Amino acid sequence: MKILVVGSGAREHAITRALALATAGGHATGHAAGHPALHATDHTAAHTAAPTPTDHELHAAPGNPGIGQLATLHPVDPVDGAAVADLATRLGVDLVVVGPEAPLVAGVADAVRAAGVPCFGPSAEAAALEGSKAFAKEVMAAAGVPTAMAHVCTTVDEVATALDAFGAPHVVKDDGLAAGKGVVVTDDRDAALEHAAACLAKPGGAVVVEEYLDGPEVSLFCLSDGTTVVPLAPAQDFKRALDGDEGPNTGGMGAYSPLPWSPDGLVDEVVARVAQPTVDEMRHRGTPFAGVLYCGLALTSRGVRVIEFNARFGDPETQVVLPRLATPLAEVLLAAAQGRLDDLPPLRWRDEAAVTVVVAAHGYPGSVRAGDPVDGVADAEAVPGVHVLHAGTATDDGALVSSGGRVLSVVGVGADLAAARATAYEGVAHISLRGSHHRTDIASRMPVLDEDAS
Ligand code: AMP
Ligand code: GLY
Repeated sequence: MKILVVGSGAREHAITRALALATAGGHATGHAAGHPALHATDHTAAHTAAPTPTDHELHAAPGNPGIGQLATLHPVDPVDGAAVADLATRLGVDLVVVGPEAPLVAGVADAVRAAGVPCFGPSAEAAALEGSKAFAKEVMAAAGVPTAMAHVCTTVDEVATALDAFGAPHVVKDDGLAAGKGVVVTDDRDAALEHAAACLAKPGGAVVVEEYLDGPEVSLFCLSDGTTVVPLAPAQDFKRALDGDEGPNTGGMGAYSPLPWSPDGLVDEVVARVAQPTVDEMRHRGTPFAGVLYCGLALTSRGVRVIEFNARFGDPETQVVLPRLATPLAEVLLAAAQGRLDDLPPLRWRDEAAVTVVVAAHGYPGSVRAGDPVDGVADAEAVPGVHVLHAGTATDDGALVSSGGRVLSVVGVGADLAAARATAYEGVAHISLRGSHHRTDIASRMPVLDEDAS
C-alpha cells in the first residue's frame, strides 16, 4: 500500500513506524483490550518476534528527521487541505492518515476525501468534538455521555459565578484548540479568573468552567468509521511538566500501556456508555465521526466521566499503544477510512508493556530554546527494546538539533511495565540535549482505585 502520513510529531513517527514494521504474534482480545499483559502466562511468542519491514511505500508531509528514515518527506503545509490533497493525488496513495488536530479542524480530511482518496481522520465538522469544548459538551449531553458538569462562559462575570457555584479546585478551559495548554486546574480563584480573562480576550473567545473530577485518568482511543467502534488498548498519560504531577499542564510528558490497575470491563463500558453513543449522535446529526475518538476519562468515585474528547490519536499515548498492536495498522486504518470496521477480525495484541518518556527542550512548556544539538539517539536505540521517536527535531548541517518543545519520545518495550520502564529510562540516559528536562517518574506508581470506581 502507498500511504501518506500528515504531521510532524512523535505521534506521527509512531504511526509511520507501525506502518513500516510488522510484528508477528499477539492474541485476539476483542474488547478486553485493556487486560492482556498482566495475566498472560506465555510471553515467549511476542518476545522472540522481531519486527520485520512491511512492503508499504510511506510518505509524510512534512514529517521530521526521524520519520524521514522510514518515509519520503514532502515539504507541504499540513493544514493546507488543497496542498495535501494535491500531494496525495500526485503520489497516487491508497490512504492518507492525518495525525494532528489542527489539519483535521482545518478540513484537511474533507479535502483529501473530496479528491477521491481514502482518508483516516474526521471531517472538520466532526473534529469539532475536539475543536470546541462547548460543542463536545453539547454532544455529550445529547448522547447521555457521563462528563463533568460545566458552564460555557463568554464574560468574566459569568466565569466568576460559575467558579463560585462549583467551588475549588477550579477548572477553566479555553473553548478552542490550545495544544493541551488551555486548561488551568487550580485552588487559586484569582489564577482561574486570570486564565479565563486571557482566553476571553481572544476574538470569539469562550471558556468552559467545570466541576473538578478526581480519580485517575485513562486515555482510550476508539477507532470509528462513522458507525462501528473498535477500541484500542487503554493508556495513561502524564500531563504535568514535573515529577509528582507538579508544574504546568503540557501536551504530555510520558505514557504507559497497559493499565494493570484499571477495572475489569472498563474498555467495554467506555465503548457502550461513551464512544458508541457519541458516534451514533454524530451520525444522526449528519456529521459522522470517522477516525480516532480519543476518550480522555477520569475514573471517579462516582464512575467514569469524560474529561475531554480529541479527534485524533493522543501524543504520547500512541507511542505506547501502537507497539503493542500485532494486527497490521495499515489494514485497520484503511478499514476505518473505507467504512469496513465491522468486517475487521478482532484486533490482536502483544503480551508486552510499553513506556515512553518525553525529552523536552529547555523552557518547555513555556517559551522553548531551539537549535541545541541532540546526541545519543543511536546509542539509546542500541539498548534492546528501545526505540526513539522524533518530535521537535531538525537537521542543521547534517547534525540533529532541537526545534520544538517536546523533542524526543523515548520508548521502552518489555515483558511487563517494570521492564519497559527500566528500558525506557536506560534509553533516556543516553540522550544528551543541553538544558533538556524529562520526568523521572513515568509509570513508577500505579493509581489505587476507590472500591466503587469503574
Ligand atoms: P483537557 O485538555 O481537557 O484534557 O485537560 C487537560 C488536563 O487537565 C486533564 O488531563 C486533567 O488532568 C485536567 N482536567 C481537565 N478537566 C478536569 C476536570 N474537570 N477535573 C479535574 N481535572 C481536569
Ligand atoms: N496526550 C494528550 C493529548 O494528546 O492530547
